[in-house]
Amino acid sequence: MTTAGDTRRDQILREIGIDVRWRLRGAPEAASAPAAEPGAASPVPRAQSAPVQGLDWAELKAQVTSCTACGLHEKRNKTVFGVGDEQADWLFVGEGPGAEEDEQGEPFVGQAGKLLDNMLAAINLRRGENVYIANIVKCRPPGNRNPVAEEAQACSAYLQRQIELIRPKLIVALGKVAAVNLLQRDASIAVLRGEVHEYRGIPLIVTYHPAYLLRTLSDKAKAWQDLCFAVDTMRGLQPAARAGAA
Ligand code: URA
Ligand code: SF4
Repeated sequence: MTTAGDTRRDQILREIGIDVRWRLRGAPEAASAPAAEPGAASPVPRAQSAPVQGLDWAELKAQVTSCTACGLHEKRNKTVFGVGDEQADWLFVGEGPGAEEDEQGEPFVGQAGKLLDNMLAAINLRRGENVYIANIVKCRPPGNRNPVAEEAQACSAYLQRQIELIRPKLIVALGKVAAVNLLQRDASIAVLRGEVHEYRGIPLIVTYHPAYLLRTLSDKAKAWQDLCFAVDTMRGLQPAARAGAA
């Protein structure tokens, strides 16, 4: 079906079969986003109970599983470490586990995760194949509120170590919480997208969070632009000889 206002991008989206799914509504998280509660953080978030530096994958996973470094541990079911190819070129970083992730211990398995899988498919990527998926916080913020700065800070060494071990070529920050915490810069997605930033020397691109896109269909074309930008950026990172540059 084609409508008058169709853009080329919309056509491409439909051709690759993600348009329909991007319209999926009614996910639990589509309930109005909980307002951030400024002073409502757990009382005394601290740094990790033990240093994370130098840990290997097994040690890092074990430490996250037993972590009590911030208040989010109190109500979690399972920690959600991250999943995928531990040598991936692509790293996607979300915000934190939701209800289904907390149940299953895997990131992005709910409604937003289905959209993320479709976004990956749109650029020929698949979960686990040259892709790693992680979150800013490893434990679910109750009621799906945003993690507060102290919680993100308490958890940051884990993601930092994951990134050191993976050595991705490109990081895609999904949504404002991921972007702000990775870039340590408070700005909107609208401001941050469309540019190559850096996290500890690794190129980083910002786009909308899939849960946001499920509620805000009008921005999905921009997300598609961002994915194309990410692909172009990744291409530009390949060795010049292989890219045919003279
Ligand atoms: N939203 C996120 O940011 N991360 C998940 O793992 C699931 C939903
Ligand atoms: Fe530890 Fe991170 Fe869970 Fe907080 S969110 S308890 S820092 S693993």
